[in-house]
Amino acid sequence: MEIKNENLSPLGKYEQGMSWNPVEKVIMERRSIRSFKKEPLPDSMIRRILEAGRFAPSAGNMQPWKFIVVKSPEMLAEMEKDAVKVAKFFMFFIDYTRGNILRRLYILSWVKWVIRFLKNELQPVPFGLMSQIAQDKTPIFHGAPTIILLVEDKRGVSSPPTDIGICGQNMVLAAHSMGAASCWIGLVKLLMYLPKWRKKFGIKYPYCLNDCIAFGWPNPKADGIVPREVQLVQWYDKGLNDAPRVERQGE
Ligand SMILES: Cc1cc2nc3c(=O)[nH]c(=O)nc-3n(C[C@H](O)[C@H](O)[C@H](O)COP(=O)(O)O)c2cc1C
Repeated sequence: MEIKNENLSPLGKYEQGMSWNPVEKVIMERRSIRSFKKEPLPDSMIRRILEAGRFAPSAGNMQPWKFIVVKSPEMLAEMEKDAVKVAKFFMFFIDYTRGNILRRLYILSWVKWVIRFLKNELQPVPFGLMSQIAQDKTPIFHGAPTIILLVEDKRGVSSPPTDIGICGQNMVLAAHSMGAASCWIGLVKLLMYLPKWRKKFGIKYPYCLNDCIAFGWPNPKADGIVPREVQLVQWYDKGLNDAPRVERQGE
């Protein structure tokens, strides 16, 4: 039987120069929103978002994830308070950007080793954000009325963190397609330094907290567009021994 494009895609077939289809539009227009209305999304909508995550592909179809929905305002406030405490604790020891010159020089003399060891966690962006959280300048969950914790099962095939990333992306795209706002909150992991939260969420081997996504209705004051780098993409489309053609992807 001949397989036609139309049978594979409910959106029809690709044509050169066509405008974004609805799925592409959702991908292109989604933004991280850091300002939410107080009113939470209805549970029925949260379930649909969860369903989009549940249907994500994963290596070996292992589905190495568990989802935890937190809507309780009391609990969210406690998590926020505790994350600030942990951020303050870390920043007291490693923030080489604040304090008098002697303190800065002393911290700088050894903190570079800590940064080398925790290079992803303490890269300048999360470092700056953690410093803001420690100073109570930025709320970790941006006042979102709902968060979904993405718990990773380390026994997944190949790369469970990749599977979780795909799963979360499905969720944020589904949310955006329904007019909801979302923001990934990687710094939620600060809470895992406190046994209280690990116990509460039952996070112990083989599980770990991979990430979290905040959801809600967007407040009008959304962030502006965050630029993307132009990618220099290598195309190997000639012979085996030919050099690749390098094409600029993006404006
Ligand atoms: C895994 C991951 C973790 C993130 N953690 C945070 C976070 O802790 N706080 C935050 O405000 N934004 C966080 N973000 C959002 C990014 O800053 C944002 O996606 C990026 O700046 C691009 O902007 P856009 O999502 O609006 O396109 C995270 C994004 C990802 C994918």
